[in-house]
Amino acid sequence: MSSKKSSLKKNKSKKNVTTSAKKQSTKSTPKKTSVDPENQYLVVGNWKANPETLVEARNLFNEIKNNVRQVRLTDIVVCPPFVYLDNLNALYKGKKISLGAQTVYSEQSGSYTGEVGAEMVKSVGAKYTIIGHSERRKMGETDEDVKARINIALSSELVPIVCIGEKERDNDGEYLSVIRDQIQAIFYGTSRDWFRKVVIAYEPIWAIGKNSKGAVTMHALHETAIYIRKVLSEIFDKKTALAATILYGGSVDASNATELIDGTQVDGFLVGRASLEAGSFLGIVSAVEEYAKKQSS
Ligand code: PGA
Repeated sequence: MSSKKSSLKKNKSKKNVTTSAKKQSTKSTPKKTSVDPENQYLVVGNWKANPETLVEARNLFNEIKNNVRQVRLTDIVVCPPFVYLDNLNALYKGKKISLGAQTVYSEQSGSYTGEVGAEMVKSVGAKYTIIGHSERRKMGETDEDVKARINIALSSELVPIVCIGEKERDNDGEYLSVIRDQIQAIFYGTSRDWFRKVVIAYEPIWAIGKNSKGAVTMHALHETAIYIRKVLSEIFDKKTALAATILYGGSVDASNATELIDGTQVDGFLVGRASLEAGSFLGIVSAVEEYAKKQSS
């Protein structure tokens, strides 16, 4: 670890775990993430069922890869459909971009028509996998399935990016208990060592996709990130909660990335639509990179 990184690490304990964002300064405390990628900030592109052909997938990936040479402090992950993984993996020998799957099944192999195992995606280059995205939960995936899939991903040494988030944000704070219940159902009873290898993606369902209400506000995101760390600190401990890697996802684009990373206590983004357009995705990466530079100087 470089001296810069170790000095960042020392600052971690200053992050305050409290439900009141008002008690927080607007500057977040720099920190090293709990997972072990190179950097402390992470931008993940979730391509979902896009684009329609391998040629388009290669073009999009090429455009991204040709424009990330200057990125030093932000890890970039691209999660294409399974069928493109092998090809994109062969296309890229650099280290700036990692590949990820969009899910893995809860078994490695067997009679499960249509499913794909963690070892399979690992063998074609994936280092990460999204788990429990709301679009998969809508198809019936439960917190129990999510937990089983995290286990299998970890057994294949993939970094699971675990999605949580409420359907609606009500004024009475009911959404907070939805978030709490999800975190408890998935993480309660797991060890700190297990949890440290996991990335959490806070993705409020109402903020996702083209029919969404748009991204969460900076203030609401700050408050929710603190709340998530508070719930985690009750399950594990304060230190583990502070070190957790928390991404935000839902209508992130190049125009709101700066305000959504600055002081909100998240460590990066999980990006849907904007990851399908190289310019927008790169704009988000550079907003995060600029913030990371500011924090490390
Ligand atoms: P969006 O999707 O960025 O298109 O809102 C985010 C996601 O579903 O991960």
